[in-house]
Amino acid sequence: MNSRSNFSSKLGFVLAAAGSAVGLGNIWRFPYLAAKYGGGTFLLIYLILAITFGFTLMIAEIALGRKTRLSAIGAFKSLDKRFGFLGILASLVPIIIFPYYSVIGGWVIKYFAVFISGGVQASAGDTYFTDFISGSVEPIGWFFLFMAFTAVIVLCGVEKGIEKVSKIMMPILVILTIIIAVYGLTLDGAMEGLIYYIKPHMSDVSAKTILAAMGQLFYSMSLAMGIMITYGSYMKKENNLESSVRQIEIFDTGIAFLAGLMIIPAVFAFSGGDRSMLNAGPGLMFMTLPKVFASMRFGGVIGTIFFVLVFFAALTSAISLMETIVSVFMDKFGWKRRFTGIFVAVLACIMGIPSSLGFGPLSFISWMGMSVLDIMDFISNSVLMPIVAFFTCIFVGFTIKPKTISDEVKATDGTFKAEKMFNVIIKWVAPVFLVLILISSVASALGLFTI
Ligand code: PHE
Repeated sequence: MNSRSNFSSKLGFVLAAAGSAVGLGNIWRFPYLAAKYGGGTFLLIYLILAITFGFTLMIAEIALGRKTRLSAIGAFKSLDKRFGFLGILASLVPIIIFPYYSVIGGWVIKYFAVFISGGVQASAGDTYFTDFISGSVEPIGWFFLFMAFTAVIVLCGVEKGIEKVSKIMMPILVILTIIIAVYGLTLDGAMEGLIYYIKPHMSDVSAKTILAAMGQLFYSMSLAMGIMITYGSYMKKENNLESSVRQIEIFDTGIAFLAGLMIIPAVFAFSGGDRSMLNAGPGLMFMTLPKVFASMRFGGVIGTIFFVLVFFAALTSAISLMETIVSVFMDKFGWKRRFTGIFVAVLACIMGIPSSLGFGPLSFISWMGMSVLDIMDFISNSVLMPIVAFFTCIFVGFTIKPKTISDEVKATDGTFKAEKMFNVIIKWVAPVFLVLILISSVASALGLFTI
């Protein structure tokens, strides 16, 4: 047990966990959702949910990890044998996400390479993106390269690899985001976009907006997939858990907010206020933004910086996914880090190939209109994550009891300021909402009804 690696400091822990949380979800998904669900309204709801639900779930997961010093698979089981299945279910989520997340990571490196070599105009072509992802060999090549970066860092271990890289990359990411956001706001017509983005429209408040914000929150904070349990297992007792969670949340939400600031006003300026351009979903980052960059002065440079930033964000998230899988295998089979790392990387390369080919040679595989990659995303995010989060709440609320978690939070200096709120949310409010999220996402995917 003593040989388990650790983060050396609280800052190292916070930045690594924030590195996991801040990813593609913040940079393309959040701005797009915010635009779709009424700008300021969505922001406000998201913020409220983050400091209540997000906080509660993250506290529970990190405390579970730190208390048991085990990754998800062992953590639940060691506290109650009947919940062993939950550890397996939670560990399954990163195993499904990691390969396809890395496929997208590969696309990001490709765009970086295109921008830095002066290909801004080419990348703005209407079919550039679809031509690229429907290829067979090229996207796989970039995907493997992204995997190689991730694997090298994870093989270096928690302190020398993950902590070090996060300490360098996260501050750079913040600075780059601010630079691009400020530049974007100076474009003609950007102010209108800014107002749209931050001004709440109360008429937009609906069950749908709340559920969308909630789903985004879980994904964005890397909850319900064992990641925070694993990172918690590397956290020292002398580091304050409650304030760490607050800082991670501020980081994650702050970057999401800035990403919106970076993208929405710029797209507004480019499209002359045409909101439909913002609803491009996954295409927003790879299809709409390059057009925006191509039309800007210094667009080549800004675009290059943008894709470096997205690369950092995606990489630190991928690291957390891979580390979680590695630590599950190490705990379960007693393997060494090096062997496990290589094993996991090879496995993920194989598993990711269908997701990559799903836009080209394998495009005939589709289910409810979804490609292979979308199917993976749907199973992990819309089905498994709410289930895992629901049972985690039941487990903490009714089996081991919230007090077990509170005691762990208090282990540092005896305080847990939000204890009351934590107890109520974990036992009653969160489980109800999670069931609603599950029903609504499955029903809308199956075309049954939408809330
Ligand atoms: N939280 C990450 C993001 O916002 C996504 C992620 C999901 C990362 C799952 C790791 C695991 O993009």
